[in-house]
Amino acid sequence: METINQILNDNYIGKEVKIHGWVYRVRSSSKLCFIVMRDYSNVIQTVGRLEDLNEEDFKSLSNLTIESSLEIAGTVNRDERAITGYELRIKSFKIFQRNENFPITRDQGEEFLLDNRHLWIRSREFNAILKIRSTIFKAFSEYFFKNGYYEVHPPMMVSTATEGGSTLFKVPFFGETAFLTQSSQFYLETFIFSLEKVFTVSPSFRAEKSRTWRHLTEYWHAEGEVAWIGNNEMMDIEEAMIKYIIKEVLENNRQELALLNRDISALEKSLEPFHRLTYSELIKKAQEFGLDIKYGDDLGADEERAIMIHFDKPVFVTHFPEELKTFYHRPDPQNPGYILCHDLLAPEGYGEIIGGGERIWSLEELRTRIQKAGLKEEDYYWYLDLRKYGSIPHAGFGLGLDRLCLWIMKQANIKDIIAFPRTIRRLRP
Ligand code: 4AD
Repeated sequence: METINQILNDNYIGKEVKIHGWVYRVRSSSKLCFIVMRDYSNVIQTVGRLEDLNEEDFKSLSNLTIESSLEIAGTVNRDERAITGYELRIKSFKIFQRNENFPITRDQGEEFLLDNRHLWIRSREFNAILKIRSTIFKAFSEYFFKNGYYEVHPPMMVSTATEGGSTLFKVPFFGETAFLTQSSQFYLETFIFSLEKVFTVSPSFRAEKSRTWRHLTEYWHAEGEVAWIGNNEMMDIEEAMIKYIIKEVLENNRQELALLNRDISALEKSLEPFHRLTYSELIKKAQEFGLDIKYGDDLGADEERAIMIHFDKPVFVTHFPEELKTFYHRPDPQNPGYILCHDLLAPEGYGEIIGGGERIWSLEELRTRIQKAGLKEEDYYWYLDLRKYGSIPHAGFGLGLDRLCLWIMKQANIKDIIAFPRTIRRLRP
């Protein structure tokens, strides 16, 4: 059995092969029947000729419907007119299932396609998206394994918030209330006291009431935490990691990027050094671009889109004012009122894909910030313990893998790059 991609090759011309897959398109006349077949790897035009088959078989082929499953044996020819440049002349075939009408046809609305995502993921576009996504996830972990990190496995059901109470999902938990994790950061911080360099890839949950092109309620979060380093070193690591991922995609997914019409040279730009600006510098730039944004604004999806449309490489934004970020970020001893953190904003209008920075490692400082945030110390007893026993400087980050996918594939909405998106309005399929 061959795969379709394998036989789209001059070495197969004249050879007899066998493929299996699904009907992608079909059209027939009285003596010829063209069936474009697809498998996981690609599509190929196959042709059934009345002269090669008996009448009953020819009829059976001609009546095939979209997404019917079958096996075909035949010989490969070059044909410039065919969808992928080759044609398989059918000698024999076996039908596994002849479908009723497949519900998805051309020009169907967005909501219909979302309701039928379980079927739509078979489309060529989604097949390409899933392949690139798979490379991105693999490359993320690969980068950290190659650099001596350990993968760790924090819990998803937790008792504390990391990113504020407003986006917590509550789950009944044997008489208590548990939350679905917003971020594994605090657990990763516990692991560094054992392993020093750790990462994890797991879902995070945000009960986001806002409906934007970049928010999911369940998203894939790739997080890392590193002992003995500060904000700048953390950004260096993230920059190298993002470049590694882009290189892997460029190396492994040319065919898929082409199918999505992704401009390769735009991606290659991000292999150059990233920009680094402070929050104040970014706000100034935004004003120079003529945007109605002022110092102190917390930038959302629309503001970041308007700013990042002007950049062709990612931008690290550092030194946010203390009020704009959560309690665990370390204030900058050199710049009172500012914190040693960063966001990484993706170019071409995509905006924030990473949030990270240095963590407070002094017990007193953390206590003060917890109080200021109106949180209860006892809820964070284990997090505070890390500052009591052998505390060290450390930094970490959280990368929204779905957002990275969205930018790398240059799609319009985050729902376009995850098979089964969860949003405020969608829990099925
Ligand atoms: O900026 P955030 O909230 O930072 C944290 O959760 C840190 N505790 C991470 C850490 O340092 N370990 O989230 C990190 C990233 C964002 O930059 C964004 O890419 C993604 O997670 N993200 C979302 N992606 C999709 N849908 C949402 N609702 C998201 N919320 C955050």
